[in-house]
Amino acid sequence: MAWKKYRFGTQFYDAMSGEWAVYRSGRVAGIELMGLRPGDTVVDLGCGTGLSFELLVDAVGPTGQVIGVDASAPMLQVAAKRAVRKGWSNVRVVQADATKLSAADLAVDGVVPTVDAVFSAYALSVMGSHPTVLAGAQKLLRSGGRLGIVDMQRPVGAAKIFTPLARLACRMGGADIEAHPWEWLTQRADDVRQTSRRGGHIRAVTGTLK
Ligand SMILES: C[S@@+](CC[C@H](N)C(=O)[O-])C[C@H]1O[C@@H](n2cnc3c(N)ncnc32)[C@H](O)[C@@H]1O
Repeated sequence: MAWKKYRFGTQFYDAMSGEWAVYRSGRVAGIELMGLRPGDTVVDLGCGTGLSFELLVDAVGPTGQVIGVDASAPMLQVAAKRAVRKGWSNVRVVQADATKLSAADLAVDGVVPTVDAVFSAYALSVMGSHPTVLAGAQKLLRSGGRLGIVDMQRPVGAAKIFTPLARLACRMGGADIEAHPWEWLTQRADDVRQTSRRGGHIRAVTGTLK
């Protein structure tokens, strides 16, 4: 249960995660590539403390919806507080294991939302069984819905000298640097759009699933 690593010290996660120095750039790139539209409903899978929420809220606007899903209650607590503090009434969080997530888990008063997009940043490489998680995400999505994945790999080219640092960052977060969860998407989507950041350490890949 990889998420059990995310039960303690969650109030320090944002400060310790290298967000501004390294990882925000990938989050921004991935959300831009997804091409979200005002009014969209987007699920943030493995949302953690909600570091992607602001960018997602900006993209879907006040008529859209952001649903953060995470298995860790303490991470979600931070995420929920963030949403309240920022006044995002169109953000809600759901505690669920992404390997077993079903549309019913996202329902409010028995009404299952139409999901236009699923986004996941730096979480699939932690989950271990990302093919199961992504197959589940595909079932949540409406036909023609978009999937966006931001995750880590070893740096490439001249940036290879930073490989030990990248490995350390992944190990500390319980992520498998060799997981490459975007490969699942590139094998299935026709309209793959992708980019990388920070010497190739961060890959952002989006595509539409049928
Ligand atoms: C490295 S954090 C990334 C959080 C956030 N997406 C971000 O960009 O900061 C990984 C998150 O994945 C969550 N996670 C790991 N396995 C999970 C699972 N099976 N189901 C749901 N969440 C899971 C953890 O609880 C943690 O919050």
